[in-house]
Amino acid sequence: MNKITTLFKIKYPIIQGGMIWNSGYKLASAVSNAGGLGLIGAGSMYPEVLREHIQKCKKATSKPFGVNVPMLYPNIEEIMKIIVEEGVKIVFTSAGNPKTWTSYLKENGITVVHVVSSSIFALKAQEAGVDAIVAEGFEAGGHNGREETTTLTLIPIVKEKIKIPLIAAGGIATGRGMLAVMILGADGVQVGSRFAASLESSAHENFKETIINTKEGDTQLTLKELAPVRLIKNKFYQDVQDLYEKCPTKEDLVILLGRARAKKGMFEGDLVEGELEIGQIAGIIHEIKPAGEIIKEMIIDFQTARKEVLNFDF
Ligand SMILES: Cc1cc2nc3c(=O)[nH]c(=O)nc-3n(C[C@H](O)[C@H](O)[C@H](O)COP(=O)(O)O)c2cc1C
Repeated sequence: MNKITTLFKIKYPIIQGGMIWNSGYKLASAVSNAGGLGLIGAGSMYPEVLREHIQKCKKATSKPFGVNVPMLYPNIEEIMKIIVEEGVKIVFTSAGNPKTWTSYLKENGITVVHVVSSSIFALKAQEAGVDAIVAEGFEAGGHNGREETTTLTLIPIVKEKIKIPLIAAGGIATGRGMLAVMILGADGVQVGSRFAASLESSAHENFKETIINTKEGDTQLTLKELAPVRLIKNKFYQDVQDLYEKCPTKEDLVILLGRARAKKGMFEGDLVEGELEIGQIAGIIHEIKPAGEIIKEMIIDFQTARKEVLNFDF
């Protein structure tokens, strides 16, 4: 048992990050059933779709699970109301001010975790009263911080500043990665990209196949003027780069991005015009696997690596 397994009442301190267009109830329940903590990604769901996923998740697992709510999307009030009505016990908030919703959720008996990319925001989240923090490095998939602080640097810096449990995210897809960040002071890990290429991910097969073929250097953080996001370098990414050559205004970027790019890429499988969000660690993801198998492998890898490290001496 450690701080994270105790906080969430789970077996392994492995959290499957909420991921738009990837983490519906199928993935969340598979991760929870395997001893981790599965999160339904509310960011790509209309409120009533989220309700359906929560209800299905409750049927698919008797283990704890949670909901991730990126606060930059609309309908937040309705989403939060549904979360409380459906008796969800764990909420991970991201992309917004932790002060806005933490007390409301806590008054309703919910364990609250906030995702940050810097120690300043980690302190703000701690002050807002969250139960734990996810510190996410620059290498992570999805939306990201502007400062470009890597996980290896971010974890010890945040650890020095906060007292509440700390979850590391960004660049972790193996038990070795998990051991590394736990040695740096994390109490658990949040994993995204590895689970995007799982059997239970709701992403389109084209996207999953692309993830397992993504190599080192194939992703880049872009659109910093809007919400910085790490994307695979496809045609849409190239269109963004071409526009940057012309010194665009924020408005020009908004127009190019248009609507539903992420859905087009990850859910509908349009590899040319869609947004394909994935982390740098995709470079070591070579196979689409069931989520339960991914967790089992991570635990074996963690134990093997731990023995190797313990055997080493000067
Ligand atoms: C396809 C994709 C979608 C994501 N969507 C969200 C989201 O909706 N909300 C959120 O807080 N984080 C989101 N993330 C970030 C993950 O929850 C997680 O923190 C991150 O993927 C960890 O880094 P890794 O990709 O290196 O494992 C997303 C990541 C990916 C790859």
